[in-house]
Order: sequence, then C-alpha cells, then structure tokens
Amino acid sequence: MKIQGKQLIPVNVPIFVQKVNEHHLIKDEIMGLIKETKQRPGETMSTTDWFEDYNYKRPYWEPLLFTIDKYMRHVADQFNVTHFSYDNYWFQTYTKGDKHCPHVHPGVHYTNVYYLDMPGDYGSRSWDPMDKNKVLDVKIEEGDLLSLPGQLMHDSPEILDNTSKTIIGFNINFQGNANLDTNYRTTTN
Ligand SMILES: [Fe+2]
Repeated sequence: MKIQGKQLIPVNVPIFVQKVNEHHLIKDEIMGLIKETKQRPGETMSTTDWFEDYNYKRPYWEPLLFTIDKYMRHVADQFNVTHFSYDNYWFQTYTKGDKHCPHVHPGVHYTNVYYLDMPGDYGSRSWDPMDKNKVLDVKIEEGDLLSLPGQLMHDSPEILDNTSKTIIGFNINFQGNANLDTNYRTTTN
C-alpha cells in the first residue's frame, strides 16, 4: 500500500488470544448472572445489555473481573504500562442469523472479548489494515480471551446453525507509563 509522499510503515501491534484457565470453573456462574442482568434485543443480535445505563452495575462483572484481571495485566505489560482502566463492558448473545457487522472501537486502546459460551466456530474476525481483503488468521475457541487493538476492524460472523454464542466484551485504556530511561530500561521497580 502506498500513500504518495508519505511513508507507511507496518509495525507489530499484537492481538492477544489467552486461554482463561478458570473457564470451566466460572462459566455456569457467569451465565447465571447474565440471566439476572437487565437486557433487551439488539439490532442484529438476540439480547444484550449494551443499551442499559452506563452506571447500571452488571451482576456478572465483578466475579468475572476477579478472574480476568491478571490476563489483562499481560496485555498492559507488553507495552510497559503501569495502569489501565476498564471503561465499559457488556454481554451479547447470538443465535441463528445473528451477527455484528465490521466496526472499530473509537477511543479505545484494546477491546476484549471473552468467549463464555461458543460451541461452534464463530470467533470474531479481524482485518489487516495493510491489506483490507485479508482476514487475520486468529483461532478462537470457547474459554478464550481475545484482545484486539481498538482501531482494528473486526466483526462477529453470522451464526449459520442452531448453536448460540454468548460473549462478554469490554474496553480498556492505558493510563500510566512505566519510568523508562532513554534505552527503554525500567528505572524504578
Ligand atoms: Fe467490537
């Protein structure tokens, strides 16, 4: 790809796929708490709490955070970031014919998807911004935690069979830099 008079230099900004080791211990509890959560049908998905008030305390969030926080720490550590914030979170349930069209997450460092219940092969797809026809080769299964740079186009493919998929999504933003010297070495511990 060329932009006249400019350089376009591809850099490696990682996509993280982490297996949540506690998945089988927490799945049923979190699914139960989602049933207790205020929700309504989405435009292209069966049900979600996306439209509920930002300040509404989703019942599933704190128990989930207890487990996943350490995984998100790995993402921040990759960038020498000392602090990050969880800016919003939501769940989505997809059944046959449901999908989420390609989109980015404006103002978000990393957007994250925990695949809580996904018997089929319906992991998110994301596209290479250097080659817009290229779907990135990312393998996802139930129990995985996907972290994508917020500016990366991604979607949720249409469910074609009689399975359903429930995910929890959340956005994080980096908030604090580690103290590094000019050689990129940490100066404090
Ligand atoms: Fe998304």
